[in-house]
Amino acid sequence: MAQISGLDAYKDAPSAEVKSTGRRMRVGIIGCGWIAESHADSYKRMDDVDIVALADIVPGKAEEFAKRMGIEGARYYDSGNALIDGEKELDCVSVCTYNRQHAPCTIYALDHGVNVLLEKPMCVTLDEAVEICRAEKRSGKVLSIGFQPRFDKNMKMVKEIVESGELGDVYYIQTGGGRRRGIPTPFGTTFIENETAGLGALADIGCYSLDMVLNAIGYPKPLTVTGYKSDFFGKDPKYYSGHPEYAKLFGVDDFAAAFVRLEGGIILDFRIAWAMHIDTPGDTIILGTKAGLRIPSTDCWNGSIGGPMKIYRTIGTTTVETEVPVLTGSGNLFDHKIRTFLDASRDGTAAPIPSSQILYNQAILDGIARSSDLGREIEIEIPEI
Ligand SMILES: NC(=O)c1ccc[n+]([C@@H]2O[C@H](COP(=O)([O-])OP(=O)(O)OC[C@H]3O[C@@H](n4cnc5c(N)ncnc54)[C@H](O)[C@@H]3O)[C@@H](O)[C@H]2O)c1
Repeated sequence: MAQISGLDAYKDAPSAEVKSTGRRMRVGIIGCGWIAESHADSYKRMDDVDIVALADIVPGKAEEFAKRMGIEGARYYDSGNALIDGEKELDCVSVCTYNRQHAPCTIYALDHGVNVLLEKPMCVTLDEAVEICRAEKRSGKVLSIGFQPRFDKNMKMVKEIVESGELGDVYYIQTGGGRRRGIPTPFGTTFIENETAGLGALADIGCYSLDMVLNAIGYPKPLTVTGYKSDFFGKDPKYYSGHPEYAKLFGVDDFAAAFVRLEGGIILDFRIAWAMHIDTPGDTIILGTKAGLRIPSTDCWNGSIGGPMKIYRTIGTTTVETEVPVLTGSGNLFDHKIRTFLDASRDGTAAPIPSSQILYNQAILDGIARSSDLGREIEIEIPEI
């Protein structure tokens, strides 16, 4: 069974080089669940950060989180908005709520002059993403989206290979990935209920696959999408050992596929699964006019790369394959994500992972869901921000 240990790929040694001695930053965390632990750990490793406030809507959860994580002197709040209202001198917040609360918490924080590091996926719908971007624009604050795989050296290499021109003009991309058995319920049901998650595998891990390839090719605008999603595993009580009741709660997708047309004539062929009767739905491939790139998938798709990449070319009449060795030493990706966000917030510089890019990622997720519901191809229209 594929493990969904999830964050293990990011628990490399702490990254000493990402520490800073700039002015002290006052930070809050909204949502004290699983991923908040990684944020708290990284903030604690920074020598210029005080975690001054924690919020969770579950009574007592913020206090319990502080105790477990060894955070002293923080104030506790029973919602993200209460935290923003109660803290007058806050520099930054991490929004670590489940997906449905990403937009309201982020917009409220930005509207009150606080810089935001928002967990992935950006939100649930394109409309929410547009509202988030508008709030960012009117606030003048920094909003960065939590795609820590961007800081992995191998991910950077994917982009370098494309940008080097080695592949020629990219015209077709197949991406996605999946788990044979990996619906994320070990810590509760917030990932599978519609009221909390909104989207399933499509957004949870699909957003990573999209970011890997779209970032590499410069985030062209998505134009049309034919999408499909299903829930055959999530709705099956036999899937869950010991928790057949989860099947009734399951209100999102466990599999999604799509055919997306991007600006510049590039085709994106996508599939993603939390559960399926196969080992992998395929590697990521990027086809260009001069060469092709294969990026091996993993059995726990979470934005990491499953082995050495390969470039396929023809020299004269001979087909040639070049292996790109796996690069190690990226450091702790969460430390990079937090440090780059803090630096941008302190200096008022560009967000390390800008919403202007992730807006297109969200437009595709939203388009796949809507096209699937409508049973036909749709045009993606992105309003002016
Ligand atoms: N970057 C990564 O590697 C990664 C990994 C896991 C999860 N995530 C993302 O992080 C988010 C949270 O995931 P999780 O596993 O921590 O979920 P979780 O359910 O364990 O935690 C979410 C917490 O937010 C709280 N909450 C909800 N609305 C709130 C509000 N308005 N104010 C304050 N607290 C609120 C909930 O009570 C809960 O405790 C998801 O969007 C998920 O996709 C990212």
